[in-house]
Amino acid sequence: MKQALAVLTLGLFIMPGCARHVGRAPYGAIDVIGHRGAAAYAPENTLASFIKAEEANADWFELDVRLSKDGEVIVMHDETVDRTTNGHGNVRDLTLYELKQLDAGAWKAPEFAGERIPTLSQCLDYAKYKCGVYVEIKSCDDDTELMGKVLQHAEGLKEANPSFYRDLIDMAEKDETQNLVLARKVIDLVRRKIMRRHVTIQSFNPLVCGFIRAEAPELRVELLAHVDADSKMTWEQWERWAFLMRVHGFNCNYGALTEGRLESLQEAGLTVSPYTVNELEDMKRLVAWGVDGIISDKPDLALSQSRTVNRAGGPKKQ
Ligand code: G3P
Ligand code: CA
Repeated sequence: MKQALAVLTLGLFIMPGCARHVGRAPYGAIDVIGHRGAAAYAPENTLASFIKAEEANADWFELDVRLSKDGEVIVMHDETVDRTTNGHGNVRDLTLYELKQLDAGAWKAPEFAGERIPTLSQCLDYAKYKCGVYVEIKSCDDDTELMGKVLQHAEGLKEANPSFYRDLIDMAEKDETQNLVLARKVIDLVRRKIMRRHVTIQSFNPLVCGFIRAEAPELRVELLAHVDADSKMTWEQWERWAFLMRVHGFNCNYGALTEGRLESLQEAGLTVSPYTVNELEDMKRLVAWGVDGIISDKPDLALSQSRTVNRAGGPKKQ
């Protein structure tokens, strides 16, 4: 018995990850989220980039997921492989095997030649016990029409309730949107790997955020928003979607954020982690305002600022 206890105690001490609260900054500090890994220093969305972010001590790394032709969840930002690999064509038209033949590193620098496009499963395995993962679900179908119908259905409703979430899923199934298929595959992977506390889901597609809230209430979900002179939706419209889908966080382009907007979102109970902040001056300003996280291609630089404050008493994450 004594021996068993000693083994258990030793095991608890040496178990990887015990020393660090995965995916969360130390109490009171601002979360640093390495954008596409550490995209300033390594080819984005590759394991080399995620390793750089983790080694820099980022609290999280961010990645983008899409569906391959044969339904695998793979990690790639663009719709096509053209910009970040030596191949050509749409991700949706290539099988996992075909995607795995491509070089996803040489475009950045010769030292990264031979890097492969990872699957979400590989990235989660790498991150477990080391680092949190922001999984951004990219749209693989155009949901504009469906969004219109959902908004009509939500008239007079401020926040989703169980029956609204059920209707949302019914409408999405009838529409046969592939975004629901992708969202379900992501949920399934996170559950199978037992990583709900290591993962935050985010998407620019508010319906995708709603699918996750409806079908995986145990997961943290943050809506991505983009507002500038050319954007199709206004700040208020993005906020309407955030409240309707009852997301936990609202991550906008940092140029759209003001101190007043930040305060009002946080007062409403949402966390705010703006993207993609790479300049020291911007980081300093956002840290002084009290953002909850910073999404950056340079997690090392963001860490140098995020650890200078203690926000104890500020909004608490789930
Ligand atoms: O994490 C926020 C950021 O990734 C959103 O923009 O285009 O880099 O996916 P994008
Ligand atoms: Ca992204």
